[in-house]
Amino acid sequence: MAGHRTLTIIKPDAFNTGKAGNILALLEAKGFTLIAARVMQLTQEQAGEFYAVHKGRPFYGELVEFMTSGYCMPMVLEKAEAVLALREAIGATDPAEAAAGTVRKLYAESKGRNAIHASDSDENAARESTFFFAETDLIR
Ligand code: RTP
Ligand code: MG
Repeated sequence: MAGHRTLTIIKPDAFNTGKAGNILALLEAKGFTLIAARVMQLTQEQAGEFYAVHKGRPFYGELVEFMTSGYCMPMVLEKAEAVLALREAIGATDPAEAAAGTVRKLYAESKGRNAIHASDSDENAARESTFFFAETDLIR
C-alpha cells in the first residue's frame, strides 16, 4: 500500500439507487485512480467481520443489517496520501455535518445510510484491501 492506496465501499443505499457511477466519477475527478473493483452482496458473517471494530456499539446490529441489505461495490483507489485524501473527499460520517461537495453531502441519506466507506489508516487500508481482493485482482 505504501500510503498511496485505500479501500472504499459504495454502500447499498448508494449502489442500489444508481449512484455508483456518479460517485466514482467524482472520485476520479479528485484524482483517484481505480486499481480494483467488484460488485457483491455481503453476507452477515462478512459484514460482521469487516466492521468487527464496532462490535458492542449500539449501531453495530443496524450497520451489519444495512451493509448486507443489497449490493455494494468495494474498490481499491490510488492517490498520494490516499487514506487522508479519501476521508476528506467522502466527508463526515453524518451527512448533515459533511462539507459541501463531499460524497456524503451529495449522496448520503443519514448517519447510518451514508453512501460510502473509506479506510481510516494505512494499516486498515491494507487489511481491508486484502479482505476483498487478491494481489492478482489489482491492476498494478
Ligand atoms: P466508515 O467506517 O463506514 O467509512 O464510516 P466512518 O469511519 O465515517 O464512521 P465509523 O465511526 O467508522 O462508523 C461506521 C459506520 O457505522 C454507521 N454508524 N451509524 N447511527 C449511528 O450513530 C452510527 N454511527 C456510525 C455508519 O454507517 C458509519 O459509516
Ligand atoms: Mg470507519
